[in-house]
Amino acid sequence: MKLHINENRKLSHIEPEVYGHFSEHLGRCIYGGLYVGENSQIKNENGMRKDVVDALKEIKVPVLRWPGGNFADEYHWMDGIGPKEKRKKMINTHWGGVIEDNSFGTHEYFELCKQLGCKTYVNGNVGSGTVREMSEWVEYMTFDGVSPMAELRKENGHEKPWTVDYFGVGNENWGCGGNMTADYYGNKYRNYQTYVRCYNGNKPIKKICCGPNADDYKWTSDVMEVCFRHPAPAVAHGFMDGLSVHYYVVVNNWEHKGSAKEFSTEEYYRAMRKAVYMDEIITRNDHIMSEYDPEKKIAMLVDEWGCWHDVEEGTNPGFLYQQNSMRDAQVAGATLNIFNKHSDRVKMGCLAQIVNVLQSVILTEDDKMVLTPTYHVFHMFRHHQDANLLESYLEGTERVGIGEDTAENVNESVSVDKDGIVTVTLNNIDVEKENIVDIDFRNSLIEKVAGTILFGKMDDYNSFENPSKVTERDFESFENGENKLKVALPPCSMVSLRIKLS
Ligand code: AHR
Repeated sequence: MKLHINENRKLSHIEPEVYGHFSEHLGRCIYGGLYVGENSQIKNENGMRKDVVDALKEIKVPVLRWPGGNFADEYHWMDGIGPKEKRKKMINTHWGGVIEDNSFGTHEYFELCKQLGCKTYVNGNVGSGTVREMSEWVEYMTFDGVSPMAELRKENGHEKPWTVDYFGVGNENWGCGGNMTADYYGNKYRNYQTYVRCYNGNKPIKKICCGPNADDYKWTSDVMEVCFRHPAPAVAHGFMDGLSVHYYVVVNNWEHKGSAKEFSTEEYYRAMRKAVYMDEIITRNDHIMSEYDPEKKIAMLVDEWGCWHDVEEGTNPGFLYQQNSMRDAQVAGATLNIFNKHSDRVKMGCLAQIVNVLQSVILTEDDKMVLTPTYHVFHMFRHHQDANLLESYLEGTERVGIGEDTAENVNESVSVDKDGIVTVTLNNIDVEKENIVDIDFRNSLIEKVAGTILFGKMDDYNSFENPSKVTERDFESFENGENKLKVALPPCSMVSLRIKLS
């Protein structure tokens, strides 16, 4: 098959945030995963796990969404500020019925983002919170002047305000975030967002409206209609900067999702078919958004995505802890290629969730840490961040799979960074066949190529006993000639190439 690349045609810009992550007060994501507290035996800096933060820096985490998820619409931020011993203890009713001691709150979140060097995305509470509560949170975080909330922040030890880059006005308000109708939520959005203020010359906070559950296109169109109905606020004036979309790959069904580690080839291809459905979800939601915003000023944020499997045996069902195999890596690779291709509209993606929950990049157990195959995909794709998408297409792909569970055997995306280096990410989802790809540039010559590969059996995974079973390795299986490159992709593999042209 052939991969045609037009190196002269830059399409959209791939925002770094497309490679973003999501962290919720759920299971061992925050507590034990990201945060262990200052007094822990586990090496930490101001309570944040050193090993985890260091590993996350390697994949250049661009943005971290917090505190949920479902948790966000029940979170009352004032419970998580002030002296830790005085913070309220409560039951995390959504997730596992365990005690939430609020020791990780607003100050700790900004400390974590500072350590990661990433942008901030705070999700507000519409489901059970008031406009005043939301507005005071924004004041607490961002106001640099005389005000009750700014004073409170200072009393709690933070003189200067922080930067909130993105603010979510509710989460999944069609379901766990209040079971609202689109009409009701749309009006709530108009109301609540008014008080997400941009104080004294701060960088404007990007306001995110709750979009659909995947392919619930009616929600998208109804919410957009209510939001932009008379008297309609101008799209360009900070009324709505983004619309969120959530989509999970559930291999079988919600009652019996299927195991993360033990699955059939059929279930592997089902996951692939469901992963590439993301393309249709984005395309159709984009069309609806374009009716109101043809210039694509409002971003689409796929701020929850990933595989959702059955929990690992013997673990708390409310903790959503699952292993992560080459199958998950392929889902991640296909999804990230799709995001790149839609980077004219998709400006953020947040994998659910960053550590120990659903399709994580990292798993921890006490002081041990393991990098999952999905981690390596994010590492291999990191060069796409902040690059420009190049026009490219594959010729000669075939569908592979079993019965109706099929997808194209190879998927790809190509970008060029500010130094002119081209990144090609190619995934061969076929679990049996090698695929040879002839890469063809329009007229530039190839000066230098370097590559890495991730491969394995579809159900290979990294465990605490065998942490490097699936790992990124150098890739040299290519022949280089003038403006062409021949690449051999082994079965179930993902390749990232960095190409210098002349
Ligand atoms: O990521 C787990 C949960 O999935 C989130 O809390 C919620 O937003 C979604 O339903």
